[in-house]
Amino acid sequence: MELVQTIENRASVRSFTAEKIKPEDLKELVRRAGLAPSINNSQPWKFVVVTNHELLKKMAEAVSESIGNLPVIDKEDANRSFLSRIEWYSTFFEDAPALIALLMKPYVSVLEKGVELSHDEIERMRNHPDMQTAGAAVQTILLSAIDLGYGACWMSAPMIAKQALEKLLKVEDPFKLVTFVAIGKPFGAPARKAKKALSEIIEIID
Ligand SMILES: Cc1cc2nc3c(=O)[nH]c(=O)nc-3n(C[C@H](O)[C@H](O)[C@H](O)COP(=O)(O)O)c2cc1C
Repeated sequence: MELVQTIENRASVRSFTAEKIKPEDLKELVRRAGLAPSINNSQPWKFVVVTNHELLKKMAEAVSESIGNLPVIDKEDANRSFLSRIEWYSTFFEDAPALIALLMKPYVSVLEKGVELSHDEIERMRNHPDMQTAGAAVQTILLSAIDLGYGACWMSAPMIAKQALEKLLKVEDPFKLVTFVAIGKPFGAPARKAKKALSEIIEIID
């Protein structure tokens, strides 16, 4: 597919058919993600692809439990429907044919070798290039999913249960769980979100 068409066709897909994703397509998605730019070319990532539905169910249960433990403002009914919405947007991955978990490990930046600043201070100073790196990898997966005939959704909401999820995924130091992407064949056409007009978002300084 033409790149511009892929970009224009992308929309978050949250409902999937039961059709499995071909293993070679899963590998291709991760191969392309690994081509994304990364701070200092550190490539501090690992992609764990989960297609085991028992595990996905356990992961979704862990997320639901964490949502249940949130310190909600006590407004009974309003809160119940609000929380069940949040829960759905955080757990629908359990019905996805595949979930890619992005893990990242700390990188040592070139700057940190020559200045008396900690890794965290440099991260803050530079607006978190570690998270920017994660974004580049995820967007590459999202666009590649469309290109290969699938739909996908970036999912950071489940990270509320990060520790339990890291245990279930057997994430080992120095890696940490950063985010998920749920993938599959779209069930129906995804709702298209309105996007701002170009004139609203552009400023050219010549
Ligand atoms: C960093 C990030 C995290 C997101 N996390 C979730 C999530 O946990 N659950 C979800 O349903 N959508 C999630 N989304 C998808 C957004 O809701 C979606 O991109 C937005 O509503 C715009 O819709 P579109 O992707 O169809 O253009 C996330 C998007 C981003 C960029």
